[in-house]
Amino acid sequence: GSGDERELRAPICCILGHVDAGKTKLLDCIRGTRVQEGEAGGITQHIGATYLPVENIRERTSLKSEVTIKVPGLLVIDTPGHESFSKMRSRGVSLCDIALVVVDITRGLEKQTIESLHLLKRHNVRFIVAMNKVDRLYGWKSCPNTPILEALKNQSDDVRSEYKWRLTEVITQFKENGFNTAPYYKNKKMKRVFNIVPTSAKSDSGEGVPDLLMLLVRWVPEIMIDKLAFNNSVECTILEVNGDKDLGTTIDVVLINGALHQGDQVIVCTKQGPVTTIIRDLLTPQPMKELKAKGVYKHHKEVRAAHGVKIVAPGLQHAMAGTSLIAVKPGDDLRQAETAAMQEMILTISAADENKNRTAAEEVSRVKSCKEGLYVQASSIGTLEAIIDHLKSSNVDIPVSDWNLGPVNKQDVMKATAMLNRKEEYAAILAFDVKVMHEASVLAAESGVRIFMADTVYKLVDSYAEHINGLKE
Ligand code: GTP
Ligand code: MG
Ligand code: NA
Repeated sequence: GSGDERELRAPICCILGHVDAGKTKLLDCIRGTRVQEGEAGGITQHIGATYLPVENIRERTSLKSEVTIKVPGLLVIDTPGHESFSKMRSRGVSLCDIALVVVDITRGLEKQTIESLHLLKRHNVRFIVAMNKVDRLYGWKSCPNTPILEALKNQSDDVRSEYKWRLTEVITQFKENGFNTAPYYKNKKMKRVFNIVPTSAKSDSGEGVPDLLMLLVRWVPEIMIDKLAFNNSVECTILEVNGDKDLGTTIDVVLINGALHQGDQVIVCTKQGPVTTIIRDLLTPQPMKELKAKGVYKHHKEVRAAHGVKIVAPGLQHAMAGTSLIAVKPGDDLRQAETAAMQEMILTISAADENKNRTAAEEVSRVKSCKEGLYVQASSIGTLEAIIDHLKSSNVDIPVSDWNLGPVNKQDVMKATAMLNRKEEYAAILAFDVKVMHEASVLAAESGVRIFMADTVYKLVDSYAEHINGLKE
Protein backbone atom coordinates (compact mmCIF):
# COMPACT_ATOMS: atom_id res chain seq x y z
CA GLY A 1 0.00 0.00 0.00
CA SER A 2 1.03 3.65 0.24
CA GLY A 3 4.17 4.48 2.17
CA ASP A 4 5.51 1.01 1.47
CA GLU A 5 9.24 1.55 0.96
CA ARG A 6 10.31 -2.06 0.53
CA GLU A 7 12.58 -2.87 -2.39
CA LEU A 8 10.65 -4.78 -5.03
CA ARG A 9 11.96 -7.25 -7.58
CA ALA A 10 10.83 -7.41 -11.21
CA PRO A 11 7.64 -9.43 -11.77
CA ILE A 12 8.10 -12.55 -13.91
CA CYS A 13 5.66 -12.78 -16.81
CA CYS A 14 5.26 -15.93 -18.92
CA ILE A 15 3.86 -15.54 -22.45
CA LEU A 16 1.65 -18.42 -23.57
CA GLY A 17 -0.69 -19.14 -26.44
CA HIS A 18 -1.40 -21.14 -29.57
CA VAL A 19 1.05 -21.35 -32.47
CA ASP A 20 1.31 -18.07 -34.38
CA ALA A 21 -0.91 -16.04 -32.04
CA GLY A 22 1.93 -13.51 -32.03
CA LYS A 23 3.74 -14.18 -28.72
CA THR A 24 7.24 -13.55 -30.05
CA LYS A 25 6.11 -10.71 -32.28
CA LEU A 26 4.50 -8.97 -29.32
CA LEU A 27 7.73 -9.28 -27.38
CA ASP A 28 9.64 -7.99 -30.42
CA CYS A 29 7.29 -5.03 -30.56
CA ILE A 30 7.99 -4.25 -26.90
CA ARG A 31 11.75 -4.73 -27.19
CA GLY A 32 12.16 -3.13 -30.60
CA THR A 33 13.83 -6.35 -31.84
CA ARG A 34 13.24 -8.69 -34.77
CA VAL A 35 13.69 -12.13 -33.22
CA GLN A 36 10.56 -13.61 -34.82
CA GLU A 37 11.74 -12.90 -38.37
CA GLY A 38 14.91 -14.85 -37.70
CA GLU A 39 13.21 -17.98 -36.35
CA ALA A 40 13.42 -21.09 -38.54
CA GLY A 41 9.96 -21.69 -40.03
CA GLY A 42 8.68 -18.73 -37.98
CA ILE A 43 8.33 -20.99 -34.96
CA THR A 44 9.78 -20.60 -31.47
CA GLN A 45 11.68 -23.70 -30.37
CA HIS A 46 13.47 -22.57 -27.21
CA ILE A 47 12.31 -21.09 -23.95
CA GLY A 48 13.67 -17.58 -23.55
CA ALA A 49 13.92 -14.92 -20.89
CA THR A 50 14.25 -11.18 -21.49
CA TYR A 51 14.82 -8.49 -18.89
CA LEU A 52 13.07 -5.20 -19.63
CA PRO A 53 14.42 -2.35 -17.46
CA VAL A 54 11.83 0.11 -16.28
CA GLU A 55 13.46 3.00 -18.20
CA ASN A 56 12.85 1.19 -21.47
CA ILE A 57 9.26 0.48 -20.50
CA ARG A 58 8.71 4.16 -19.67
CA GLU A 59 10.07 5.15 -23.04
CA ARG A 60 7.93 2.56 -24.80
CA THR A 61 4.74 3.79 -23.12
CA SER A 62 5.62 7.53 -23.34
CA LEU A 63 5.01 7.73 -19.60
CA LYS A 64 5.28 11.03 -17.80
CA SER A 65 8.00 11.06 -15.16
CA GLU A 66 5.55 11.77 -12.33
CA VAL A 67 3.84 8.41 -12.88
CA THR A 68 5.49 6.09 -10.39
CA ILE A 69 6.53 2.56 -11.17
CA LYS A 70 7.59 0.62 -8.11
CA VAL A 71 9.30 -2.31 -9.82
CA PRO A 72 12.78 -2.09 -11.39
CA GLY A 73 11.67 -3.86 -14.56
CA LEU A 74 9.92 -6.88 -15.97
CA LEU A 75 11.29 -10.35 -16.68
CA VAL A 76 9.46 -11.91 -19.62
CA ILE A 77 9.56 -15.59 -20.55
CA ASP A 78 8.61 -16.42 -24.17
CA THR A 79 7.43 -19.98 -24.79
CA PRO A 80 6.80 -21.99 -27.99
CA GLY A 81 3.19 -22.64 -29.01
CA HIS A 82 3.77 -25.91 -30.89
CA GLU A 83 2.35 -29.02 -29.31
CA SER A 84 5.62 -30.90 -28.71
CA PHE A 85 6.96 -28.13 -26.49
CA SER A 86 4.46 -28.58 -23.64
CA LYS A 87 7.20 -29.14 -21.04
CA MET A 88 8.73 -25.74 -21.74
CA ARG A 89 5.32 -24.15 -21.25
CA SER A 90 4.81 -26.00 -18.03
CA ARG A 91 8.21 -24.90 -16.75
CA GLY A 92 7.47 -21.27 -17.61
CA VAL A 93 4.14 -21.37 -15.79
CA SER A 94 5.55 -23.00 -12.68
CA LEU A 95 7.94 -20.12 -12.02
CA CYS A 96 6.04 -17.02 -13.18
CA ASP A 97 4.11 -14.44 -11.17
CA ILE A 98 1.71 -13.54 -13.96
CA ALA A 99 0.97 -14.91 -17.42
CA LEU A 100 0.16 -13.23 -20.69
CA VAL A 101 -2.15 -15.38 -22.82
CA VAL A 102 -1.97 -14.27 -26.43
CA VAL A 103 -5.07 -14.90 -28.55
CA ASP A 104 -5.34 -14.11 -32.26
CA ILE A 105 -8.51 -11.97 -32.53
CA THR A 106 -9.33 -13.51 -35.93
CA ARG A 107 -9.08 -17.10 -34.61
CA GLY A 108 -10.22 -16.99 -31.01
CA LEU A 109 -9.25 -19.70 -28.52
CA GLU A 110 -7.32 -22.61 -30.03
CA LYS A 111 -5.93 -25.93 -28.82
CA GLN A 112 -2.78 -24.70 -27.08
CA THR A 113 -4.63 -21.65 -25.72
CA ILE A 114 -6.90 -24.03 -23.87
CA GLU A 115 -4.01 -26.24 -22.78
CA SER A 116 -2.34 -23.09 -21.40
CA LEU A 117 -5.50 -22.10 -19.50
CA HIS A 118 -5.62 -25.53 -17.82
CA LEU A 119 -1.97 -25.21 -16.89
CA LEU A 120 -2.54 -21.76 -15.37
CA LYS A 121 -5.52 -22.96 -13.39
CA ARG A 122 -3.55 -25.89 -12.00
CA HIS A 123 -0.71 -23.63 -10.90
CA ASN A 124 -3.10 -20.95 -9.68
CA VAL A 125 -1.52 -18.26 -11.84
CA ARG A 126 -3.41 -15.12 -12.81
CA PHE A 127 -3.23 -13.92 -16.38
CA ILE A 128 -3.87 -11.05 -18.75
CA VAL A 129 -5.19 -11.75 -22.24
CA ALA A 130 -3.57 -9.98 -25.18
CA MET A 131 -6.22 -10.11 -27.92
CA ASN A 132 -3.69 -9.66 -30.68
CA LYS A 133 -3.71 -8.76 -34.39
CA VAL A 134 -6.39 -6.05 -34.14
CA ASP A 135 -4.78 -4.54 -37.25
CA ARG A 136 -6.28 -7.49 -39.14
CA LEU A 137 -9.78 -6.11 -38.63
CA TYR A 138 -10.95 -5.17 -42.12
CA GLY A 139 -10.14 -1.50 -42.82
CA TRP A 140 -8.05 -0.91 -39.67
CA LYS A 141 -6.28 2.45 -39.70
CA SER A 142 -2.95 2.19 -37.99
CA CYS A 143 -2.27 4.58 -35.09
CA PRO A 144 1.27 3.57 -34.11
CA ASN A 145 1.82 2.80 -30.44
CA THR A 146 -1.32 4.51 -29.20
CA PRO A 147 -3.45 3.33 -26.28
CA ILE A 148 -6.23 1.10 -27.58
CA LEU A 149 -9.22 3.36 -26.77
CA GLU A 150 -7.60 6.19 -28.70
CA ALA A 151 -6.90 3.85 -31.64
CA LEU A 152 -10.50 2.59 -31.62
CA LYS A 153 -11.84 6.15 -31.72
CA ASN A 154 -9.99 6.63 -34.98
CA GLN A 155 -11.62 3.63 -36.69
CA SER A 156 -14.68 3.53 -38.95
CA ASP A 157 -18.03 2.24 -37.68
CA ASP A 158 -17.49 -0.98 -39.65
CA VAL A 159 -14.15 -1.65 -37.94
CA ARG A 160 -15.61 -0.89 -34.55
CA SER A 161 -18.53 -3.21 -35.12
CA GLU A 162 -16.28 -6.06 -36.27
CA TYR A 163 -14.12 -5.41 -33.19
CA LYS A 164 -17.17 -5.64 -30.93
CA TRP A 165 -18.48 -8.93 -32.24
CA ARG A 166 -15.04 -10.55 -32.27
CA LEU A 167 -14.44 -9.37 -28.69
CA THR A 168 -17.81 -10.79 -27.62
CA GLU A 169 -16.91 -14.08 -29.29
CA VAL A 170 -13.61 -14.29 -27.39
CA ILE A 171 -15.31 -13.45 -24.08
CA THR A 172 -17.88 -16.21 -24.74
CA GLN A 173 -15.14 -18.74 -25.48
CA PHE A 174 -13.37 -17.90 -22.22
CA LYS A 175 -16.69 -18.25 -20.41
CA GLU A 176 -17.18 -21.70 -21.97
CA ASN A 177 -13.82 -22.65 -20.48
CA GLY A 178 -14.73 -21.38 -17.04
CA PHE A 179 -13.10 -17.92 -17.04
CA ASN A 180 -14.74 -14.52 -16.70
CA THR A 181 -13.01 -11.92 -18.86
CA ALA A 182 -13.64 -8.30 -19.81
CA PRO A 183 -11.81 -5.62 -21.79
CA TYR A 184 -9.57 -4.00 -19.19
CA TYR A 185 -10.90 -0.49 -19.84
CA LYS A 186 -14.36 -1.63 -18.72
CA ASN A 187 -13.30 -4.10 -16.05
CA LYS A 188 -14.59 -2.97 -12.65
CA LYS A 189 -13.73 -6.23 -10.86
CA MET A 190 -10.12 -6.81 -11.82
CA LYS A 191 -9.62 -9.09 -8.81
CA ARG A 192 -12.05 -11.67 -10.18
CA VAL A 193 -12.48 -10.89 -13.86
CA PHE A 194 -9.46 -11.39 -16.11
CA ASN A 195 -8.37 -8.43 -18.22
CA ILE A 196 -8.37 -8.47 -22.01
CA VAL A 197 -6.06 -6.00 -23.75
CA PRO A 198 -6.54 -5.63 -27.52
CA THR A 199 -3.13 -5.31 -29.21
CA SER A 200 -1.31 -5.22 -32.49
CA ALA A 201 2.23 -6.56 -32.50
CA LYS A 202 2.98 -5.35 -36.03
CA SER A 203 5.95 -3.02 -35.73
CA ASP A 204 4.24 -0.11 -37.54
CA SER A 205 1.09 -0.56 -35.43
CA GLY A 206 1.70 -1.47 -31.78
CA GLU A 207 -1.73 -0.25 -30.68
CA GLY A 208 -2.59 -1.40 -27.14
CA VAL A 209 1.03 -2.25 -26.30
CA PRO A 210 1.34 0.77 -23.94
CA ASP A 211 -1.84 -0.37 -22.16
CA LEU A 212 -0.44 -3.86 -21.74
CA LEU A 213 2.85 -2.62 -20.32
CA MET A 214 1.03 -0.32 -17.89
CA LEU A 215 -0.99 -3.22 -16.52
CA LEU A 216 2.16 -5.31 -16.15
CA VAL A 217 4.28 -2.75 -14.32
CA ARG A 218 1.60 -0.87 -12.35
CA TRP A 219 -1.40 -3.08 -11.74
CA VAL A 220 0.43 -6.41 -11.33
CA PRO A 221 2.74 -5.12 -8.53
CA GLU A 222 -0.33 -3.69 -6.79
CA ILE A 223 -2.06 -7.07 -6.53
CA MET A 224 1.02 -9.00 -5.42
CA ILE A 225 3.17 -6.54 -3.53
CA ASP A 226 4.22 -9.01 -0.81
CA LYS A 227 5.22 -11.64 -3.32
CA LEU A 228 7.42 -9.10 -5.12
CA ALA A 229 9.30 -7.90 -2.02
CA PHE A 230 13.02 -8.42 -2.57
CA ASN A 231 14.32 -11.03 -0.17
CA ASN A 232 17.88 -12.07 0.53
CA SER A 233 17.26 -15.80 0.45
CA VAL A 234 17.87 -17.26 -2.96
CA GLU A 235 14.94 -18.71 -4.90
CA CYS A 236 16.10 -19.99 -8.25
CA THR A 237 14.75 -22.45 -10.85
CA ILE A 238 16.61 -24.15 -13.67
CA LEU A 239 14.92 -23.19 -16.93
CA GLU A 240 17.17 -25.00 -19.37
CA VAL A 241 20.29 -27.18 -19.49
CA ASN A 242 22.52 -26.43 -22.47
CA GLY A 243 25.41 -28.19 -24.15
CA ASP A 244 27.66 -25.38 -25.29
CA LYS A 245 30.58 -25.99 -27.63
CA ASP A 246 32.87 -23.59 -25.76
CA LEU A 247 31.46 -23.40 -22.25
CA GLY A 248 30.51 -27.08 -21.82
CA THR A 249 27.28 -27.74 -19.95
CA THR A 250 25.70 -24.51 -18.70
CA ILE A 251 22.33 -23.86 -17.14
CA ASP A 252 19.89 -21.05 -17.80
CA VAL A 253 18.16 -20.17 -14.56
CA VAL A 254 15.47 -17.79 -13.49
CA LEU A 255 16.58 -16.08 -10.31
CA ILE A 256 13.22 -15.43 -8.65
CA ASN A 257 14.52 -13.87 -5.46
CA GLY A 258 17.80 -13.11 -3.68
CA ALA A 259 21.20 -12.64 -5.29
CA LEU A 260 23.81 -14.95 -6.82
CA HIS A 261 27.56 -14.27 -6.90
CA GLN A 262 30.61 -15.57 -8.66
CA GLY A 263 32.22 -18.06 -6.29
CA ASP A 264 28.93 -18.99 -4.56
CA GLN A 265 28.61 -22.61 -3.58
CA VAL A 266 25.41 -24.05 -5.05
CA ILE A 267 23.63 -27.41 -5.19
CA VAL A 268 21.84 -28.85 -8.20
CA CYS A 269 19.91 -32.11 -8.12
CA THR A 270 20.55 -34.98 -10.48
CA LYS A 271 19.11 -38.48 -10.79
CA GLN A 272 22.30 -39.76 -9.20
CA GLY A 273 22.05 -37.42 -6.23
CA PRO A 274 22.97 -33.85 -5.29
CA VAL A 275 25.90 -32.13 -7.00
CA THR A 276 27.61 -29.30 -5.11
CA THR A 277 29.60 -26.90 -7.25
CA ILE A 278 30.99 -23.35 -7.37
CA ILE A 279 29.65 -20.67 -9.71
CA ARG A 280 32.44 -19.75 -12.13
CA ASP A 281 30.63 -17.12 -14.10
CA LEU A 282 27.25 -15.39 -14.23
CA LEU A 283 26.21 -14.29 -17.71
CA THR A 284 23.31 -12.17 -18.84
CA PRO A 285 22.45 -10.90 -22.30
CA GLN A 286 22.23 -7.14 -22.87
CA PRO A 287 18.99 -5.64 -21.48
CA MET A 288 16.05 -6.19 -23.87
CA LYS A 289 17.86 -9.20 -25.42
CA GLU A 290 17.10 -12.92 -25.17
CA LEU A 291 18.98 -15.13 -22.74
CA LYS A 292 18.67 -18.03 -25.19
CA ALA A 293 20.23 -16.12 -28.10
CA LYS A 294 23.82 -17.02 -28.77
CA GLY A 295 24.94 -13.44 -28.50
CA VAL A 296 27.37 -11.36 -26.52
CA TYR A 297 26.97 -11.87 -22.79
CA LYS A 298 27.76 -9.53 -19.91
CA HIS A 299 29.80 -11.06 -17.09
CA HIS A 300 28.69 -10.32 -13.54
CA LYS A 301 30.14 -10.66 -10.06
CA GLU A 302 26.61 -10.42 -8.68
CA VAL A 303 23.12 -10.74 -10.14
CA ARG A 304 20.02 -9.68 -8.20
CA ALA A 305 16.50 -11.01 -8.67
CA ALA A 306 14.49 -11.16 -10.73
CA HIS A 307 16.70 -12.01 -13.67
CA GLY A 308 17.40 -14.64 -16.30
CA VAL A 309 21.00 -15.83 -15.89
CA LYS A 310 23.31 -18.29 -17.60
CA ILE A 311 25.45 -20.08 -15.00
CA VAL A 312 28.85 -21.48 -15.85
CA ALA A 313 30.08 -24.07 -13.32
CA PRO A 314 31.68 -27.51 -13.39
CA GLY A 315 29.54 -30.60 -12.84
CA LEU A 316 26.26 -29.43 -14.36
CA GLN A 317 26.01 -32.32 -16.89
CA HIS A 318 23.09 -34.02 -15.17
CA ALA A 319 21.26 -30.98 -13.82
CA MET A 320 17.50 -31.23 -14.29
CA ALA A 321 15.43 -28.49 -15.84
CA GLY A 322 12.47 -27.49 -13.69
CA THR A 323 14.21 -28.17 -10.36
CA SER A 324 15.63 -25.63 -7.91
CA LEU A 325 19.18 -24.41 -7.65
CA ILE A 326 20.06 -24.11 -3.97
CA ALA A 327 22.59 -21.55 -2.72
CA VAL A 328 24.70 -22.68 0.23
CA LYS A 329 25.11 -19.87 2.75
CA PRO A 330 28.22 -19.53 4.90
CA GLY A 331 27.63 -21.53 8.06
CA ASP A 332 25.11 -23.89 6.39
CA ASP A 333 25.55 -27.60 7.00
CA LEU A 334 26.32 -28.89 3.49
CA ARG A 335 24.96 -32.38 4.11
CA GLN A 336 21.71 -30.98 5.41
CA ALA A 337 21.41 -28.58 2.51
CA GLU A 338 21.98 -31.41 0.01
CA THR A 339 19.35 -33.59 1.66
CA ALA A 340 16.86 -30.74 1.66
CA ALA A 341 17.59 -30.09 -2.02
CA MET A 342 16.96 -33.72 -2.95
CA GLN A 343 13.75 -33.84 -0.92
CA GLU A 344 12.47 -30.77 -2.70
CA MET A 345 13.38 -32.29 -6.05
CA ILE A 346 11.43 -35.45 -5.23
CA LEU A 347 8.41 -33.33 -4.35
CA THR A 348 8.70 -31.44 -7.64
CA ILE A 349 8.89 -34.71 -9.57
CA SER A 350 5.95 -36.32 -7.80
CA ALA A 351 3.85 -33.18 -8.25
CA ALA A 352 4.68 -33.23 -11.95
CA ASP A 353 3.89 -36.94 -12.12
CA GLU A 354 0.46 -36.50 -10.61
CA ASN A 355 -0.28 -34.22 -13.50
CA LYS A 356 0.97 -36.86 -15.92
CA ASN A 357 3.69 -34.47 -16.83
CA ARG A 358 7.01 -36.05 -16.02
CA THR A 359 10.06 -33.90 -15.58
CA ALA A 360 12.72 -33.80 -18.22
CA ALA A 361 15.04 -36.07 -16.31
CA GLU A 362 12.41 -38.75 -15.86
CA GLU A 363 11.21 -38.74 -19.42
CA VAL A 364 14.70 -38.73 -20.70
CA SER A 365 15.90 -41.50 -18.40
CA ARG A 366 13.05 -43.72 -19.55
CA VAL A 367 14.50 -43.31 -23.00
CA LYS A 368 17.76 -44.86 -21.90
CA SER A 369 16.01 -48.05 -20.85
CA CYS A 370 14.99 -48.63 -24.47
CA LYS A 371 17.55 -50.97 -26.03
CA GLU A 372 16.76 -50.39 -29.68
CA GLY A 373 16.31 -46.89 -30.98
CA LEU A 374 17.77 -43.74 -32.41
CA TYR A 375 20.45 -41.48 -30.95
CA VAL A 376 19.30 -37.88 -30.44
CA GLN A 377 21.65 -34.97 -29.98
CA ALA A 378 20.31 -31.50 -29.12
CA SER A 379 21.48 -28.15 -27.81
CA SER A 380 19.29 -28.27 -24.71
CA ILE A 381 17.16 -30.55 -22.54
CA GLY A 382 14.05 -28.67 -23.65
CA THR A 383 14.58 -29.24 -27.36
CA LEU A 384 15.58 -32.87 -26.66
CA GLU A 385 12.24 -33.35 -24.90
CA ALA A 386 10.38 -31.81 -27.82
CA ILE A 387 12.09 -34.17 -30.29
CA ILE A 388 11.36 -37.21 -28.12
CA ASP A 389 7.75 -36.09 -27.74
CA HIS A 390 7.33 -35.62 -31.47
CA LEU A 391 8.99 -38.96 -32.31
CA LYS A 392 6.55 -40.65 -29.96
CA SER A 393 3.49 -38.95 -31.37
CA SER A 394 4.46 -39.24 -35.04
CA ASN A 395 2.66 -41.99 -37.01
CA VAL A 396 5.83 -44.01 -37.05
CA ASP A 397 6.39 -44.01 -33.25
CA ILE A 398 10.16 -44.13 -33.35
CA PRO A 399 12.03 -45.18 -30.16
CA VAL A 400 15.11 -43.42 -28.82
CA SER A 401 17.85 -45.41 -27.11
CA ASP A 402 20.33 -42.72 -26.15
CA TRP A 403 20.95 -38.97 -26.24
CA ASN A 404 23.46 -36.28 -25.50
CA LEU A 405 23.64 -32.49 -25.34
CA GLY A 406 26.06 -30.27 -27.28
CA PRO A 407 28.15 -30.86 -30.41
CA VAL A 408 28.20 -34.32 -32.00
CA ASN A 409 31.56 -35.90 -31.17
CA LYS A 410 33.24 -39.12 -32.21
CA GLN A 411 32.03 -40.81 -29.02
CA ASP A 412 28.42 -40.10 -29.96
CA VAL A 413 28.87 -41.74 -33.35
CA MET A 414 30.59 -44.66 -31.66
CA LYS A 415 27.57 -45.18 -29.41
CA ALA A 416 25.22 -44.98 -32.38
CA THR A 417 27.16 -47.70 -34.24
CA ALA A 418 25.86 -50.17 -31.63
CA MET A 419 22.61 -50.30 -33.62
CA LEU A 420 24.34 -51.42 -36.82
CA ASN A 421 24.18 -55.07 -35.72
CA ARG A 422 20.93 -54.75 -33.80
CA LYS A 423 18.58 -52.78 -35.96
CA GLU A 424 20.31 -51.05 -38.81
CA GLU A 425 17.62 -48.45 -39.49
CA TYR A 426 18.21 -47.06 -35.99
CA ALA A 427 21.92 -46.55 -36.57
CA ALA A 428 21.32 -42.83 -36.95
CA ILE A 429 21.80 -39.58 -35.08
CA LEU A 430 19.13 -36.90 -35.15
CA ALA A 431 21.08 -33.70 -34.51
CA PHE A 432 19.25 -30.49 -33.66
CA ASP A 433 20.80 -27.05 -33.23
CA VAL A 434 24.28 -28.52 -32.67
CA LYS A 435 27.53 -28.70 -34.61
CA VAL A 436 28.78 -31.99 -35.99
CA MET A 437 32.53 -32.15 -35.37
CA HIS A 438 34.67 -33.10 -38.35
CA GLU A 439 35.99 -36.35 -36.84
CA ALA A 440 32.44 -37.35 -36.02
CA SER A 441 31.21 -36.97 -39.58
CA VAL A 442 34.23 -38.86 -40.89
CA LEU A 443 33.56 -41.75 -38.53
CA ALA A 444 29.86 -41.69 -39.36
CA ALA A 445 30.58 -41.94 -43.09
CA GLU A 446 33.03 -44.80 -42.57
CA SER A 447 30.82 -46.80 -40.25
CA GLY A 448 27.45 -46.27 -41.91
CA VAL A 449 25.80 -44.19 -39.17
CA ARG A 450 23.56 -41.58 -40.75
CA ILE A 451 23.40 -38.09 -39.28
CA PHE A 452 20.22 -36.12 -39.86
CA MET A 453 20.04 -32.36 -39.34
CA ALA A 454 17.31 -29.76 -39.82
CA ASP A 455 16.43 -26.33 -38.49
CA THR A 456 13.12 -27.35 -36.91
CA VAL A 457 12.37 -30.42 -34.80
CA TYR A 458 9.47 -31.22 -37.14
CA LYS A 459 11.61 -31.24 -40.29
CA LEU A 460 14.21 -33.28 -38.44
CA VAL A 461 11.77 -36.05 -37.55
CA ASP A 462 10.18 -35.89 -41.02
CA SER A 463 13.50 -36.31 -42.78
CA TYR A 464 14.24 -39.43 -40.75
CA ALA A 465 10.71 -40.79 -41.28
CA GLU A 466 11.05 -40.28 -45.05
CA HIS A 467 14.34 -42.11 -44.96
CA ILE A 468 12.94 -45.24 -43.26
CA ASN A 469 9.82 -45.19 -45.41
CA GLY A 470 12.18 -45.16 -48.39
CA LEU A 471 13.98 -48.21 -47.01
CA LYS A 472 10.70 -50.09 -46.64
CA GLU A 473 9.64 -49.47 -50.23
P1 GTP B 1 5.05 -19.75 -32.01
O1 GTP B 1 6.22 -19.26 -31.23
O2 GTP B 1 5.47 -20.53 -33.19
O3 GTP B 1 4.07 -20.45 -31.17
O4 GTP B 1 4.26 -18.44 -32.61
P2 GTP B 1 4.05 -17.02 -31.91
O5 GTP B 1 2.83 -17.04 -31.08
O6 GTP B 1 5.29 -16.58 -31.26
O7 GTP B 1 3.70 -16.08 -33.17
P3 GTP B 1 4.73 -15.20 -34.00
O8 GTP B 1 5.23 -14.09 -33.20
O9 GTP B 1 5.72 -16.15 -34.59
O10 GTP B 1 3.78 -14.62 -35.13
C1 GTP B 1 3.17 -15.47 -36.08
C2 GTP B 1 2.84 -14.70 -37.34
O11 GTP B 1 1.84 -13.73 -37.09
C3 GTP B 1 4.03 -13.93 -37.91
O12 GTP B 1 3.95 -13.96 -39.32
C4 GTP B 1 3.80 -12.52 -37.42
O13 GTP B 1 4.35 -11.54 -38.25
C5 GTP B 1 2.29 -12.44 -37.42
N1 GTP B 1 1.76 -11.52 -36.41
C6 GTP B 1 2.00 -11.56 -35.09
N2 GTP B 1 1.36 -10.58 -34.45
C7 GTP B 1 0.71 -9.88 -35.39
C8 GTP B 1 -0.15 -8.75 -35.34
O14 GTP B 1 -0.45 -8.16 -34.32
N3 GTP B 1 -0.66 -8.33 -36.55
C9 GTP B 1 -0.40 -8.96 -37.72
N4 GTP B 1 -0.96 -8.49 -38.82
N5 GTP B 1 0.41 -10.03 -37.78
C10 GTP B 1 0.95 -10.49 -36.63
MG1 MG C 1 7.05 -17.51 -30.85
NA1 NA D 1 5.23 -18.49 -34.93
